[in-house]
Amino acid sequence: MSHHPWLNELWRFIALNVLALMIGLVIGEIVLALFFAFVFYFFWHLYHLYQLERWIVSRDTSSPPNASGIWGDVFHHFYKLQRRNRKRKKKLANMLARFQASTAAMPDATIVLNAENEIEWFNKAAIPLLGLKVKQDVNQRIDNLVRVPVFIRYLVRSNYKYPLEMISPVDHDIRLSIRIVGYGKNLKLMIVRDVTRLHQLEIVRRDFVANVSHELKTPLTVINGYLENLIDAEMEQSSQWLSILTLMHQQSGRMQQIVDDLLLLSRLETDEESPSSDPVPVPALVAAICKDTQLLANDKQQRVEVENNHELWLQGNKKELYSAFLNLAINAVKYTSQGGKIVIRWYLKGEVACFEVRDSGIGIAHEHIPRLTERFYRVDAGRSREQGGTGLGLAIVKHVLIRHHAKFSITSEIDKGSIFCCTFPFDRIILRENIKEKNA
Ligand SMILES: Nc1ncnc2c1ncn2[C@@H]1O[C@H](COP(=O)(O)OP(=O)(O)OP(=O)(O)O)[C@@H](O)[C@H]1O
Ligand SMILES: [Mg+2]
Repeated sequence: MSHHPWLNELWRFIALNVLALMIGLVIGEIVLALFFAFVFYFFWHLYHLYQLERWIVSRDTSSPPNASGIWGDVFHHFYKLQRRNRKRKKKLANMLARFQASTAAMPDATIVLNAENEIEWFNKAAIPLLGLKVKQDVNQRIDNLVRVPVFIRYLVRSNYKYPLEMISPVDHDIRLSIRIVGYGKNLKLMIVRDVTRLHQLEIVRRDFVANVSHELKTPLTVINGYLENLIDAEMEQSSQWLSILTLMHQQSGRMQQIVDDLLLLSRLETDEESPSSDPVPVPALVAAICKDTQLLANDKQQRVEVENNHELWLQGNKKELYSAFLNLAINAVKYTSQGGKIVIRWYLKGEVACFEVRDSGIGIAHEHIPRLTERFYRVDAGRSREQGGTGLGLAIVKHVLIRHHAKFSITSEIDKGSIFCCTFPFDRIILRENIKEKNA
């Protein structure tokens, strides 16, 4: 179909020439007549080209100038194209306006930052949360306006995998969670949420657990004490109550252990400061842990192998590290069957220090691994309870490691065994060259 206008144009041209030829024949000047026909044709095109150019330049949005022949088609196509573009532009502008209106109405503050961290745009919610001012703060650098050291550190570190929690610079009762996402060419979208309520709930939950544990501690100690006395008394008479009392004593001991673990956990959680940077003789800790592990392992005919780097100390809290490492070692014994093998290693791996416990035990299915560090999480609650486990151990390990800026990794294969690895960063390591006396 598209060749039709051109065919018409061709016919028009031929007709013009024939007409010119006839006139030329009549007046006896064929060449002159044809020449005039060409000139006419040429100017006719030129005129329309001129019209087209004027029309485009004038940005006239009404219908195009009238024209016949091929030019009519050209004008018509141009007009259609223009109309379509205009429609699309309107649609996009509408969409943008709707998008801006919705982000502006969001309760979360949204701020667009450029590569220099200057504010390009922000919504209304940014005003009460961060104290930005509508007129004067656009194009200002955000770190000049929100002068909170943790925020500035977070901004320049440019690792935005985890959100930052901080107190609002405007109102110290408001707690904010800040998230930054990069997009486009070096642009950043900063989303700030008010998490005050969530934080308060978290505190209430933490305090509740801590208070309950604290309240239970005293009565349990009393019960446990009396049970011990009773057992002693009954022992002399070797009465039938002895086995019952022993069982009761065992269970109340377990309850005491749970309460102690919960108290330890809530203390680890509440202390936001990292633990003291005292030098900790980890080699000695590892040696002590291995001794304890060996004792437990002997009962199950398990072999314990040790690698201990005696030069490698850490900055941190001795008691916390001890309880974390011990739990890993005891887990290895608990969850490895008779005759298995356990390897405990404390070594330098490149620039980081690793405490690693490997076992040839029952292993853990991979869907459980991410949840192991939750409180009371046990893969097989029945089996774990038999072993006297409550599922708090790894939660404690996780918190201790977080406080020491260490990483925790678990790899495991069912029926093959597991590897638990704690990796301490370079800046926590102390290397001791001359401490041979510590070997004992
Ligand atoms: N070495 C391991 N091999 C296989 N499973 C393990 C191992 N260590 C831990 N687990 C699994 O992870 C769960 C959680 O371990 P965690 O140390 O937190 O609790 P627990 O040992 O059951 O009790 P607790 O340490 O509080 O006395 C365990 O119940 C067990 O199912
Ligand atoms: Mg444990």
